[in-house]
Amino acid sequence: MKTEKYCGCGEVISSVKIGQEIWDLRLKNHNIASCAMPGQFVALYCKDQSRLLPRPISICEADPDTGVLRLVYRVAGKGTAEFSGLLKGDTVDLLGPLGNGFPMEEAEGKCAFLIGGGIGIPPMLELAKRLPGQKKIVAGYRDECFLAEDLKKYGELYIATEDGSCGTCGNVLDCIRENSLTPDVIFACGPKPMLRALSGYAEERGIPCWISLEERMACGIGACLACVCKTVDTDAHSRVKNARICADGPVFLSSKVEL
Ligand code: FES
Repeated sequence: MKTEKYCGCGEVISSVKIGQEIWDLRLKNHNIASCAMPGQFVALYCKDQSRLLPRPISICEADPDTGVLRLVYRVAGKGTAEFSGLLKGDTVDLLGPLGNGFPMEEAEGKCAFLIGGGIGIPPMLELAKRLPGQKKIVAGYRDECFLAEDLKKYGELYIATEDGSCGTCGNVLDCIRENSLTPDVIFACGPKPMLRALSGYAEERGIPCWISLEERMACGIGACLACVCKTVDTDAHSRVKNARICADGPVFLSSKVEL
């Protein structure tokens, strides 16, 4: 999947705290919103010049009509802390959409499971909106169930919480088993242990599992090799078993990467 990349600025439409350290930022940038696909991300730049590298943030929603991008992120350091201080009318520099999104054609005629864990849940929203056909959404939280009401609009939602405050007490696989769910294909984003477990589950069942990897990034466009992951196959071009998460991913078939 190749889409145009745009470098520009986004006008802040709103910035709201929706959970402990979880922020919901809406930015207007028609170019990016009009071509972004589920699973892609944007690189957001800090105004503080001491933080040169952009922060990669997955696209939660992209509305081509209004030009609004929705980014739901967790404050995890100084860069994201700066973004949490953005106010309506402010502008922020950004580049995107970046990376390859989820291969939605792989779900054709199948029961697709969209599985998100923690801050891997936001990209599942745009995917749930755009993916036609039968789909179920499984969201795994530590405690607070952010975005649950939005997700419910686009598919049957199953929730797992680590503290048992909502849905299944446990993780997303506990939830799948407790509800006797049987996916034909999986699209997932979340912490590595969750992706590793899902990859093993998919392998046992002989079903495809597409995972979106999260990694610290620098350039975001495939030039610096700061974000490589180990792959099963040797890359024909570089002759090493590596792939760049920002440019070759972030979405990979789970059987093709080492987790
Ligand atoms: Fe530079 Fe991925 S961040 S190659």
